[in-house]
Amino acid sequence: MKHTATNTKAAIPINSRVNDPQAALNARSGKVWLVGAGPGDAELLTVKALRAINSADIIFYDQLVSEEICALFPKNTPALYVGKVKNNHSIPQEDLNLLLVNQAQLGLNVCRIKGGDPFVFGRGGEELLALRRAGVEAEVIPGITSASGCSTYADIPLTHRGIAQGCTFVTGHAEKTLDVNWSALAQLNHTLVFYMGLTRAGDISANLLAGGLAADTPVAIIENGCRKDQRDIISDLKNFPEAVLREHVKSPALIIVGHVVSLKEQLQVEVWMQEAKRMTA
Ligand SMILES: C[S@@+](CC[C@H](N)C(=O)[O-])C[C@H]1O[C@@H](n2cnc3c(N)ncnc32)[C@H](O)[C@@H]1O
Repeated sequence: MKHTATNTKAAIPINSRVNDPQAALNARSGKVWLVGAGPGDAELLTVKALRAINSADIIFYDQLVSEEICALFPKNTPALYVGKVKNNHSIPQEDLNLLLVNQAQLGLNVCRIKGGDPFVFGRGGEELLALRRAGVEAEVIPGITSASGCSTYADIPLTHRGIAQGCTFVTGHAEKTLDVNWSALAQLNHTLVFYMGLTRAGDISANLLAGGLAADTPVAIIENGCRKDQRDIISDLKNFPEAVLREHVKSPALIIVGHVVSLKEQLQVEVWMQEAKRMTA
């Protein structure tokens, strides 16, 4: 459970300005900020994101907005949970789009805050389209996407000279069918980062192996990245689905496939070497 504010659909018309039709008629249209909260650590919020949080009349927040960030919401600003967890959407996307439009048309400045970056598997494009179609002023504030934040906190550079000259973000989940060209992905020689891939770990492994990627290609699974309880599990392409089960990995988690994962150990060894030098000096 996040923030102290109510989080049910029924509780949505909670602002007095929303409940006062005359005030609503008099009000000029408000603005909507689609804000990226980053992957969890509140210190990764941008200055602009924090300004939007503090200027809003009402906040709508997602499942992936960390408790640490929810704790920064001003006490007097209504904050409503509109998150989605697998098979449980607290409010359907179309209704949410409408809600944002309505709230702005009632004259409220709205902070719609999401985990990571709104434009990376965040449905920010759909919300922006609905707002623009309705003639509502809207601005997207980018956030650090989890691929970037989690890999950095895990000591895994997404690209590295001589190891990976590119990085590809892939979703492991699709509303209907997942349309991925697996053999092209396997041949890319890029670091591959899978969002929402936990329940598809077996398919990801099998499809990349079938596409020609070596079984011993290093894989990192990063759970709760950029949060106090971040867990990094290192495995390889053949064995990582088993590691996901054995370690009881929970969402949110990212799967990083590629030789850059081996740099984590090298970077850690350097830390140990420096510590050993200091202790013997
Ligand atoms: C619906 S997508 C949203 C991505 C988000 N817009 C972003 O830019 O990071 C949700 C997926 O992002 C990944 N994710 C988001 N935050 C994460 C975190 N703190 N640690 C690990 N994975 C995370 C997980 O794969 C999760 O299933």
